[in-house]
Amino acid sequence: MQGELIMTHSEPDTPRSEDRSGMDWEARFQAEDAPWERHDVHPAAIDWVNADVLKSGQSVLMPGCGRSEEPAFLARQGLEVTATDIAPSAIRWQLERFQSEKVKARAIETDALAWRPETGFDAIYEQTFLCAIHPKRREDYEAMAHASLKPGGGLLALFMQKDKWGGPPYGCSLEAMTALFPDTRWIWPESEPRVYPHPGLNDKAELAVVLIRR
Ligand SMILES: C[S@@+](CC[C@H](N)C(=O)[O-])C[C@H]1O[C@@H](n2cnc3c(N)ncnc32)[C@H](O)[C@@H]1O
Repeated sequence: MQGELIMTHSEPDTPRSEDRSGMDWEARFQAEDAPWERHDVHPAAIDWVNADVLKSGQSVLMPGCGRSEEPAFLARQGLEVTATDIAPSAIRWQLERFQSEKVKARAIETDALAWRPETGFDAIYEQTFLCAIHPKRREDYEAMAHASLKPGGGLLALFMQKDKWGGPPYGCSLEAMTALFPDTRWIWPESEPRVYPHPGLNDKAELAVVLIRR
């Protein structure tokens, strides 16, 4: 089935394995089984740069960065980029990319949900990471995002839409997202989200939303 992320393991019962959704991401990279990769800069990232939502001098965290183009792209725009991922080959790929593009940026191999910065970021760029983790870990994601941003910082999210049960990708409906990012902690935009179809994942819609951390 083209473009669908299929679970290659049954979901284990232990909390530790459950945290990882039973998915061996490193194995997926090594097998070149990565249909979520766009192999080009996400049009939403370009739109956010053009609109000055992301701009030179800002610090940005990119959790679950994989082998995405956006860390080097944003570093080229003059942002201070920190990318995190649990898969060693994704981090190696990013570091090699930074070197070949001669940009200064950080890539850290870690559990992105547990990692915390010393000082808050201006922005977090979320692309196919929240939909990749098990829904039971979503509250950890929200805690990470809130703790990692300065007050007034923005979570630039692309919420993956999928009606079918299961994953990854796990659907991030707006109903679920408004519950996860409550307005006591986040300011939601008044405008409707812009829709970006994902070409590698059967054109599933990604909804672009900028949430401001209170
Ligand atoms: C669907 S991929 C998306 C990668 C990238 N954001 C992109 O758009 O190409 C999900 C990524 O999350 C990473 N990941 C999964 N669980 C993680 C965790 N707990 N901490 C850090 N990275 C994790 C995987 O290694 C993989 O790179």
